[in-house]
Amino acid sequence: MGRLQGLVVLVTGAASGIGRATAETLAREGAKVIATDLNQAGVQKVVETICANGFSARAMVQDVTSESVWQQILDDIRVREKHLHILVNNAGIAWAGSILDMSLADWRMQQAVNLEGVFLGIRTTIPLMRESGGGSIINISSVAGLQGSPTLAGYCATKGGVRLLTKGVALESAYSGWNIRVNSVHPGVIDTAIWQTVTPAAMRLEANAVDPHEIASRSTPGGKAGNAQDIANGVLFLASDESSYMNGSELVIDMGSSA
Ligand SMILES: NC(=O)c1ccc[n+]([C@@H]2O[C@H](COP(=O)([O-])OP(=O)(O)OC[C@H]3O[C@@H](n4cnc5c(N)ncnc54)[C@H](O)[C@@H]3O)[C@@H](O)[C@H]2O)c1
Repeated sequence: MGRLQGLVVLVTGAASGIGRATAETLAREGAKVIATDLNQAGVQKVVETICANGFSARAMVQDVTSESVWQQILDDIRVREKHLHILVNNAGIAWAGSILDMSLADWRMQQAVNLEGVFLGIRTTIPLMRESGGGSIINISSVAGLQGSPTLAGYCATKGGVRLLTKGVALESAYSGWNIRVNSVHPGVIDTAIWQTVTPAAMRLEANAVDPHEIASRSTPGGKAGNAQDIANGVLFLASDESSYMNGSELVIDMGSSA
């Protein structure tokens, strides 16, 4: 019997990296996973793999910046699964470069995906989670939500926002008796496709240096980048009852890079 047997889970940004590993891991533990992403073919493939392994999932296309799409996703879950117990707000993007080169459009796009997307996810899902008897919300922040990074100032602002949004909602939930725990996860340098969107010039590094392993060799004790499964394991812990006394907490998974 899996640790999440019979629970319904929504994972955003599930076509790739941490979201993919999370969807696969939570499904292996017995959850029914609704995997969403902008990337329709990618998320469909993830779901096909999960189902081929005998577990339960379905895919939906979702842009987390759209308020109306969040509502449609929840309306659909209400009709089909009738319950929702766990939300993993994972979808995210990274814009790297000098603050002097960041256009207002770049700033807003990053805020819209990384911070507003999390806000919309929390606000839209809480009513159904309460009707389902409660649950767990896991917001993927970053070590960049705990400390600054010179070429990632806008990204840091979004991830710091996710950290305190998490704590504010966690307290409101606890005092309101919603029975919903809300925690953030802070990955260090993890080997995923997100690093392909960051150019060496933007990070003021020599060519080819924007490789997670290269970055980790400078920033992480031991010099090794993590993998998506390292983060999915932490998400599983926060999703399960094993973390039932954790609320408003920060789970840092970074091999000590922020220590
Ligand atoms: N990889 C790292 O080193 C690292 C470190 C700290 C935090 N994070 C965070 O982990 C999360 C997952 O990142 P990843 O490393 O797996 O990256 P990734 O690029 O492999 O995956 C991100 C996924 O989000 C999706 N996405 C992007 N914009 C979206 C939108 N508007 N709506 C819906 N889906 C959207 C992408 O299509 C992609 O499938 C992000 O929030 C990221 O900021 C990553």
